[in-house]
Amino acid sequence: MQFECLPGGSVTGSFRVPGDKSISHRSIILASIAQGTTHISGFLEGEDSLNTLAAFRVMGVPIERDGNQVIVQGVGLHGLQKPDRVLQMGNSGTAMRLMLGLLAGQSFDTMLAGDVSLSKRPMNRVIKPLLEMNANIESQAAGTAPLQIRAQPNLEAINYAMPIASAQVKSCIMLAALYAEGETTITELAPSRDHTERMLKGFGCELVNENLQISVRGKQTLYATDIDVPADISSAAFFLVAASIAPGSEITLQHVGVNPTRTGVIQVLRLMGADISLLNERDIGGEPVADIRVRSAQLNGIHIPEALVPLAIDEFPVLFVAAACAKGETILTGAEELRVKESDRIEAMALGLKKLGIAVEVMPDGIRIQGGSMKGAVVESYGDHRIAMAFSVASLVASEAISIRDCANVDTSFPGFVELARLAGIQVSSHG
Ligand code: S3P
Repeated sequence: MQFECLPGGSVTGSFRVPGDKSISHRSIILASIAQGTTHISGFLEGEDSLNTLAAFRVMGVPIERDGNQVIVQGVGLHGLQKPDRVLQMGNSGTAMRLMLGLLAGQSFDTMLAGDVSLSKRPMNRVIKPLLEMNANIESQAAGTAPLQIRAQPNLEAINYAMPIASAQVKSCIMLAALYAEGETTITELAPSRDHTERMLKGFGCELVNENLQISVRGKQTLYATDIDVPADISSAAFFLVAASIAPGSEITLQHVGVNPTRTGVIQVLRLMGADISLLNERDIGGEPVADIRVRSAQLNGIHIPEALVPLAIDEFPVLFVAAACAKGETILTGAEELRVKESDRIEAMALGLKKLGIAVEVMPDGIRIQGGSMKGAVVESYGDHRIAMAFSVASLVASEAISIRDCANVDTSFPGFVELARLAGIQVSSHG
């Protein structure tokens, strides 16, 4: 599938983007191993979170839809059943890494597989701590999926100092820790999204989270609790940048999750001069939520503070578009993790921005982008949803049309993107 984007336009209106992907995955995982019935509203009906949902159905968890709610009849910590097939995680690193932690402590064997992109992504970062917990996991020679997990009902608690800032690694260990004897302590390198910690507490799990250390005791019972999934700030980010760069824009994004471990994109854009206000700030089931109003503004290049990198990790493709529209140079360093996402996001964005006429210099851990004016081009998304959506946003300020190739994976995180973007004022259509 290809996106064709006509140049120019502005974005206006008040709307809600789909549910948070990270919270959607976690809601299904924790609800499945809890006791009792969990009602989830706002669940992301994207391919990634639907793969997680499908995996639990295959393991015997009754999961139904009722209108726009997902209802999960939890089977308890030890109630999952051996699946009769390989569990397919599609494009989703979060699904594979979190499921690996959960499956490591089961009393049955499982196998996890993913698509071409996911089968290239590094899994040793989660396999290593799980092996220390006595798990029995085999990967391919390159430390990649498919992954074979053998029954190990006797996991051991560990103390683990994480070598990278990664919520997926942290969450994988926390899920395994639920099945381990004793208390597991994880030390983070830097703060990363804390949805697992918040949701575990919501399910009645005792957990201490202080000064970059998380301690969780194994064999605790989780109790069902209803979940309201806020709109995904990572999807809202495309419109935060769109409204900032397209003159004459003003939008309000409703009910967006603004957990401080996710709002790096707002901080970076504000440092660049964006006009962003948070309205009606409230707490919904342990997660901060707000409506976000954005008006167009002149952006200026900055050196992005490295401390903000983990807090904006998924938003860099579209932040690079903001940088391309800013006055002066924007420099990103300390972001080597971008190279192991759904694509190598530094390379993928650099190649596309160059085709659009922007001067960029790639570094091993980041990029330098010189703000300028964009022309039209045919660019590749490399099958990466966020690259495809970022270049659609760029069309608002390009002088000619932009064609974006290989866009089907936009459905992994943002079903209905084209329709919503058109409604807002981006002149994008999908073909083929
Ligand atoms: C996620 C964590 C991040 C992020 C991903 C979702 C999560 O990955 O990029 O899209 O839900 O825990 P890392 O933990 O690998 O940085």
